Amino acid sequence: MQYFTGGVGFFDSGIGGLTVLRACKSRVPGVPFYYLGDNGRAPYGNLPTYLIRAYTREALDYFATLGVQAVVLACNTVTAVCADEMRRAYPFPIIGVEPAVMPAVRNGGKVGVLTTRATGESQRFLALIEKAKRTYPVSEIVPLPCDGLAKAIEDGIQNPNTDYSPYLPKAELDGVVLGCTHYVFIQKQISTFYHCPTFDGNIGVANRLQTLINGGANVVKTQNLSVFGRTSSIGNHRPVFFLGARNTQNKRIYEQMFAKIRGRVVKNPKKV
Ligand code: DGL
Repeated sequence: MQYFTGGVGFFDSGIGGLTVLRACKSRVPGVPFYYLGDNGRAPYGNLPTYLIRAYTREALDYFATLGVQAVVLACNTVTAVCADEMRRAYPFPIIGVEPAVMPAVRNGGKVGVLTTRATGESQRFLALIEKAKRTYPVSEIVPLPCDGLAKAIEDGIQNPNTDYSPYLPKAELDGVVLGCTHYVFIQKQISTFYHCPTFDGNIGVANRLQTLINGGANVVKTQNLSVFGRTSSIGNHRPVFFLGARNTQNKRIYEQMFAKIRGRVVKNPKKV
């Protein structure tokens, strides 16, 4: 199998980061992407912060061995708990994903922010809420920690009929922020549940990645790194390599998402 040096590593506790990968996919043509989901140890949202830090370091050490040119922490929880620390510890630029609170509160009204517990309790999140309140004092911001939702999505993603409403805190809202990348998978269901628009940070990540890569060196060399074993890849010109123990599962979910986006899923195929 062919591997590359350079490229961008995406990391999440599980499948959530695939929604970020999707947003970034067409932004930096020719740059290989690596996706590492730690599905076996997901969810991270209820773990103690020292473990979230330790698992993130494992992932970033792995990306460092691959020679990536940048890393996307495609996980609000990881970003909230340790993005700054990781930026100090590693030589490559690290982009994080943050709940899209600012765009959501701009229009006023009552805005709910759905997050994992670890994100909701983090200093970074509390500072973001304070800043949003100062900047848009007419808005009402309601943090809504959702225990169990990321895990339910991780487990239920293959079943389109899964009902996530038992995990959604009841509230009357004018806007809702999807403060966990897993929640983006069920954006429609959340929007229907609260009867209001949703906001997520994925496009912001894609914009930052595009600026970063286009502004810096963009050298992609081939190299045989098959020592890293368990991977599966898709695409020739803009390959995505899926790493880690659940690489096949993550690849399949990613492909299903793209099939839907490109309209390749045929609901009523012609009879032959
Ligand atoms: N996808 C994650 C996030 O954005 C992590 C969810 C979890 O593992 O609890 O927060």
